[in-house]
Amino acid sequence: MSKKRIAIAGATGAVGRLVRQMLEDRDFPYETITFLASKRSAGKTIQFKGEDHTIKLLEPDCFDEIDIVIGSTPDDVAAEFVPWAVERGTIVVDESGYHRMMDHVPLVVPEVNPEAIADHQGIIASPNCSTTQMVVAMKPLYEVSKIKRVVVSTYQATSGAGVAGQEDLIEGTKSALQDKQWDYKAFSHPIAFNVIPQIGSPKHEGYTSEEMKMVYETRKIFGDEEIQVCPTCVRVPVSNCHSESILVETESPISVEEATKLFEAAPGITVVDNLAAGEYPMPNTSDDKDDVFIGRIRKDISCENGLTFWCVSDNLRKGAATNAVQIAELLVSGQFASCGTSS
Ligand SMILES: NC(=O)c1ccc[n+]([C@@H]2O[C@H](COP(=O)([O-])OP(=O)(O)OC[C@H]3O[C@@H](n4cnc5c(N)ncnc54)[C@H](OP(=O)(O)O)[C@@H]3O)[C@@H](O)[C@H]2O)c1
Repeated sequence: MSKKRIAIAGATGAVGRLVRQMLEDRDFPYETITFLASKRSAGKTIQFKGEDHTIKLLEPDCFDEIDIVIGSTPDDVAAEFVPWAVERGTIVVDESGYHRMMDHVPLVVPEVNPEAIADHQGIIASPNCSTTQMVVAMKPLYEVSKIKRVVVSTYQATSGAGVAGQEDLIEGTKSALQDKQWDYKAFSHPIAFNVIPQIGSPKHEGYTSEEMKMVYETRKIFGDEEIQVCPTCVRVPVSNCHSESILVETESPISVEEATKLFEAAPGITVVDNLAAGEYPMPNTSDDKDDVFIGRIRKDISCENGLTFWCVSDNLRKGAATNAVQIAELLVSGQFASCGTSS
């Protein structure tokens, strides 16, 4: 791999912190590395590979000498900074939702559609965390039979709402145990000892924005506008790792045994499936891991070609940081697209 001048925009956030860790852990080849955030963090110091780095303010000129930036900022910040980067020839791997559905922006999960990065025009988007783990699970099944329909219910961790979401869970729970009030910042209802059946804003016929992301992003990633997706997205009082109950209806039948073998052979998937022994994926066993974990694989007894399973993944890792770093690795490998000026 050639070395590039890289940057992380939003380096201090829940995802940005993990991107930093992943670049270290995976020994990402870089010539220079720059950490960018808001004026709240600019000037503070963070450590990378044992060295101190000063966080710089995210502003237009900071991209003058950057080949690739991984963006882990809110949507409105991505909308503003991405054009600054693209104008200067910097390739952006954007984790926000702002660019995902734009026609000229590939939406990439390396286990599913790595070839899509060849079409990039300066921006490559990484999907929503709940979509990413689902499409990784769907891919090996889709390779043997077209998937007609997916019914998915999510059980999403509070870290999906960033640093503020994690604080709301911890401090909200402590306050509730002491019979005190907590001023929730990321959630519109208390998350302590509760379940909230709304993520995002009302979007389409009673479905929320988070749910419609799962519909549109899944179709775009598979390049299949016919896949029908019926999602229900729910926030649960779990700190990290999203769980999903997924039911797929395929065109031709796939047995439980065949599906298990397909999952076991697929990159990025680990099967944990022994109901009698009480073995299945859970957030506290999937935390801080890169794989998508699948268990409870069984036939849908209500539908001829239906298969249903339980799927858990670390939303900050595969749902965000890992996926973005994998995309950056594909870029520097030059396998599907060239990038940058330095070598
Ligand atoms: N959390 C997940 O599971 C997940 C999964 C997939 C995708 N995403 C997406 O990833 C993005 C980041 O999410 P997160 O959970 O990491 O959020 P977060 O914890 O709130 O972090 C936001 C980051 O953006 C920076 N930022 C905010 N406003 C800024 C501004 N005006 N100028 C420059 N930097 C600014 C923050 O810097 P300061 O510290 O200086 O404020 C911080 O580094 C979001 O678009 C989110 O939708 C998140």
